[in-house]
Amino acid sequence: MNIINEQIRAFLEEPDMIAALSNISAVISMSYDRLNWAGFYFAKNGELVLGPFQGKPACTHIPFDRGVCGKTYRTMETQLVDDVLAAEDHIACDSASRSELCVPVISDGKCIMEIDIDSPVPCRFDEAMKKEMEQAAEDISAAYRLHLWKI
Ligand code: SME
Repeated sequence: MNIINEQIRAFLEEPDMIAALSNISAVISMSYDRLNWAGFYFAKNGELVLGPFQGKPACTHIPFDRGVCGKTYRTMETQLVDDVLAAEDHIACDSASRSELCVPVISDGKCIMEIDIDSPVPCRFDEAMKKEMEQAAEDISAAYRLHLWKI
């Protein structure tokens, strides 16, 4: 297991969900270069709602039928967008963003939250980072069940 996934697992020992995810957003933001935003959206009350993050203020509510985040929710699959300007339905919270990685956290067959990461550089994200964040999403899902987190 690589260092970032080990660090994320260590922070998932924290039983308070917001405290744990706040530190994890900081770990993601510090571990990878060329990022301008890293954080979480919760699937809550029929929409995506902003969670703990690092970066500039961002959209607080995103409908399930909008944006890269909405697509991640609907497909329950990671979205790796090399060029957000060419993406059909990208929501620009920060006009500096050029590429995006959005990973669903799935529990009990449902997308319960998402890890969302933006970069000011096109094609910033690769398969290695996608795998690391998908591993993080699995670990977060396990912690969600272990600690009986509620969204
Ligand atoms: N770009 C996202 C919106 C969230 S921000 O990137 C933090 C989207 O298209 O859904």
